[in-house]
Amino acid sequence: MNYMRDSNPAYHIPVLLREAMDGLNIRAGGIYVDCTFGGGGHSTEILAHLNTEGRLFGFDQDTDAKRNSLPDERFVFIPHNFRHLQRFLRLHGVSGVDGILADLGVSSHQFDEPTRGFSTRSDANLDMRMDNRQSLTAENILNSYAEQKLQHIFSMYGEVTNAKTLAKAIVVLRNKTPFRTVNGFKQAIGALVKGNPNRWFAQVFQALRIEVNDETGALHELLEQVPAILKPGGRIVIISFHSLEDRMVKQFLRKGHFEEKDEQDPFGSSPSITQFRTLTKKPITPSEKELGRNPRARSAKLRIAEKI
Ligand SMILES: C[S@@+](CC[C@H](N)C(=O)[O-])C[C@H]1O[C@@H](n2cnc3c(N)ncnc32)[C@H](O)[C@@H]1O
Repeated sequence: MNYMRDSNPAYHIPVLLREAMDGLNIRAGGIYVDCTFGGGGHSTEILAHLNTEGRLFGFDQDTDAKRNSLPDERFVFIPHNFRHLQRFLRLHGVSGVDGILADLGVSSHQFDEPTRGFSTRSDANLDMRMDNRQSLTAENILNSYAEQKLQHIFSMYGEVTNAKTLAKAIVVLRNKTPFRTVNGFKQAIGALVKGNPNRWFAQVFQALRIEVNDETGALHELLEQVPAILKPGGRIVIISFHSLEDRMVKQFLRKGHFEEKDEQDPFGSSPSITQFRTLTKKPITPSEKELGRNPRARSAKLRIAEKI
């Protein structure tokens, strides 16, 4: 199989492409979902494995991704958040699928597009929305969230070591001048940089991005729908870029649910109903060769499971 079909490298280079296809173990006449269509790199490859009976649904909440939609009658682009997976599949008359792929986070296009506000390198409004139909932006968060909530976000989503000091400073600074732009925000908090400035700002921006787009909430809702949608023998493949997400995926695939231990059984000793057979004890990570071609694949972790 030729894996050099990068359909749209200027928009996004697909990460762990061969590994994701191997993980999906595609049935030529099956129904597949790409939850994170982006530049369509993974979707192009899925289509190449399907025969004329096969179907592919590609979700992306960013309207920019729609322009990459594939001119193929087996493909349907769904311009919505994957947290509504089941609802939109039902609208298309689909109740079960053979494989689901999610390649989480932002695309290179989103990151590199100066006006979107995702990058620390370009001045722009503090936006960071993947879906411009939603109202919450990074500006709203910085100018309105309570100090404790800000601290939680920076520490959980960005692993910012001085999250508490940063949150405190933001609340003081915004009372004088509300935050509006990337450069304005960077200048205002510049004195708080700890360690390597590029790395520190990247962590702060990552935390804001994850909160703006409720990335962990959407992943949680997606995973909860998978047992009902995936047919027995069907595969789920998830590529994540954040340890928090990887942990959520790992735990969900192992237990088949997110529920806390019940009161009758506070130690969780009763067996959970296993829904999946995990095929990756340890996550698959990019090879040195892939990292040489695409350094942005650096923190990718891929997990595969099969519905029982
Ligand atoms: C890492 S890129 C995927 C790239 C794609 N696999 C490719 O080969 O080009 C992630 C994409 O998923 C989209 N996305 C992220 N979270 C989403 C969500 N909750 N619902 C729908 N789309 C989402 C982003 O807008 C972005 O275009």
